[in-house]
Amino acid sequence: MYTLGKKFRFSLFGKSHARCVGCILEGVPQGTPVDYERMCQELALRRPSKGIGTDRVEKDLPEIVCGVANGIADGNPIIIEIANGDVDDSKYLPFAETPRPGHADLPALLDIPKFDICGGGQFSGRLTAAIVAAGSIAKDMLEAKDIRIGAFCRSIGDVKDNEGRTIADVDASKQYPTRACTAELDAKMNDCIMSARKDADSVGGVVECIIEGLPIGFGGIWFESLDAELARGMFGIPACKGVEFGKGFDITKMRGSQSNDAYRFDSDGKIITKTNNMGGIVGGMADGAPVVFRTAFKPTPSIGARQETVNLKTCENADLVIKGRHDPCIAPRAVSVVEAVTALILVDQMERGL
Ligand SMILES: Cc1cc2nc3c(=O)[nH]c(=O)nc-3n(C[C@H](O)[C@H](O)[C@H](O)COP(=O)(O)O)c2cc1C
Repeated sequence: MYTLGKKFRFSLFGKSHARCVGCILEGVPQGTPVDYERMCQELALRRPSKGIGTDRVEKDLPEIVCGVANGIADGNPIIIEIANGDVDDSKYLPFAETPRPGHADLPALLDIPKFDICGGGQFSGRLTAAIVAAGSIAKDMLEAKDIRIGAFCRSIGDVKDNEGRTIADVDASKQYPTRACTAELDAKMNDCIMSARKDADSVGGVVECIIEGLPIGFGGIWFESLDAELARGMFGIPACKGVEFGKGFDITKMRGSQSNDAYRFDSDGKIITKTNNMGGIVGGMADGAPVVFRTAFKPTPSIGARQETVNLKTCENADLVIKGRHDPCIAPRAVSVVEAVTALILVDQMERGL
């Protein structure tokens, strides 16, 4: 099992082609409402979309095995299982001999004890369904305190959205398969993904996440800082290759006089920042501006185009052509996962009193 959080502890289990994937959520206060309908809605947003997604049929009906009675947390650990509908692993058998470049096969096979890599095994994006299910409980807990999280696709390949989106824009993105904020961007991102798919290839993308409503000072310092824990959580999501906050790496091109976010009082006497280059976090704590960070997802490693690999049995160089169902772009599906991991981390920091 793989665990995130110290007091509000999320542990992930299962495999892509096993009976189920699932999670255990510890530290949910007794009496917390658990909204099953919302959990299903969040899972529906993670599901592959026709055209730009894998052909895999993912029904994703979560079963709350323990910890909830009549929609209320009873103080026990909450155990959620999500059955795997499609467990035919025949298309994955060749990877035990000829590992997929860019996927986890090679290190997983050579590690001792050996991992099961059928269907991607424990490395599969399928496990993110359990993250999204638990994240829906965390989101409800945050929204009860007026803290809202919203993520969207900021870019796919070369197709880029502008900065300055708000949670209201993000709400609109839920209607678009690419999770872009506008119909125009959705069409362009869709074309970019379909063009990669036509070439038996894949494409990467950036998911931007916004958190609104954190009180000034929310978060910890040093290794418990809000940005440190969010970044660690994001890097736990398969295919994440980078995380940046606010202006991110571009801040190095600015001078301090440009990058510092000036403080002002607004007409209600509330402290605000004039800009948001820091992405809403200074010293590891929220500074009152929306927290804004971006997570880079690499192109899907399993592609139909011919690739060079090695044959671990014959110890010869080999070619690999991958068949089976794969997303030509991970980023649109990762949007819900980024939101869920963010929610789990925020509730853990909240429960730890940071
Ligand atoms: C939601 C989601 C869906 C994914 N779908 C696929 C897929 O269809 N095919 C694939 O090869 N990788 C897919 N991945 C990525 C792999 O799981 C990941 O690249 C692999 O485990 C290697 O880990 P790494 O990329 O973090 O190094 C997906 C990841 C996520 C988050």
